[in-house]
Amino acid sequence: MHTREVTLLEGEKVLLRPLKVDDAKLYPDFLAHVTSDDLRLRFFAPMRELSPDMVDKLVHYDPAKAMAFIAIEQTTGRLLGVVRLHDDDGGDSGEFAILLRSRLKGHGLGWLMMKHMIANAKEKGLKIVRGQVLTENLTMLQMCEELGFHIADDTLERGVKQVTLPLEEVPPEALP
Ligand SMILES: CC(C)(COP(=O)(O)OP(=O)(O)OC[C@H]1O[C@@H](n2cnc3c(N)ncnc32)[C@H](O)[C@@H]1OP(=O)(O)O)[C@@H](O)C(=O)NCCC(=O)NCCS
Repeated sequence: MHTREVTLLEGEKVLLRPLKVDDAKLYPDFLAHVTSDDLRLRFFAPMRELSPDMVDKLVHYDPAKAMAFIAIEQTTGRLLGVVRLHDDDGGDSGEFAILLRSRLKGHGLGWLMMKHMIANAKEKGLKIVRGQVLTENLTMLQMCEELGFHIADDTLERGVKQVTLPLEEVPPEALP
C-alpha cells in the first residue's frame, strides 16, 4: 500500500511512494512549477518560494509520527505532487496537506493521492484524518466533500474551514 502505480485521467502513469530525504533534490524543479497562488493555498501565507531550510524540514519527518507520499512521473522521474499527514498529539488523528505541480491540476492526481493517504492512515490505525482548507479553495472543499469529509468553519481562524474524516465512515471498497 505504501507504494502504488496509478494512472491519471489522461493515461499518464504515476508512482506513489513514500517521500525520502534524498528526494530534496526533486523539490527545486517541482516548486518552479507551482504557482505562488497554489503555494498560498497550501501554506496559508503569501510566498514566492520555499527556502532550502524549509524543504529540508519537509523531507526530514519522523516516520513514527508522520507519513508523506510523493507522486513521480514514470516517464521523466519528475516530482508531480506531495501529500503528507502529521499525527496529532495523542496519536488518534492526523492533519493532512497536499500540493501538486500546478499544470497537473484537474487530472485526478489530487483525488488519487488523498485516497492513498487515507488508506495508509486507516492501515496505521488512525481514527480521524483532518485538515484546514481556505474557504476560497472550492476545488479542495468539493473534493473533500466527495471523499466523505465533514466540513465546518474553523472556530479559531476566519476564512478557514476544518475538514474532518472519521475513518470508520470510509467503506473498504472506497479505498485502493
Ligand atoms: C487541491 C488539489 C490538491 C486538487 O487536486 P487535483 O488533482 O487538481 O484534483 P483532481 O483532478 O484529483 O480532482 C478534481 C475533480 O475530480 C474529481 N475526481 C478526480 N478523480 C476522481 C475519481 N477517480 N472519481 C471520482 N471523482 C474524481 C474530484 O472530486 C474533483 O471533481 P470535479 O472534477 O467535479 O471538480 C490541487 O488543485 C492543488 O494542489 N491545489 C493547490 C494546493 C492546495 O490547494 N492544497 C490544499 C490545501 S489543504
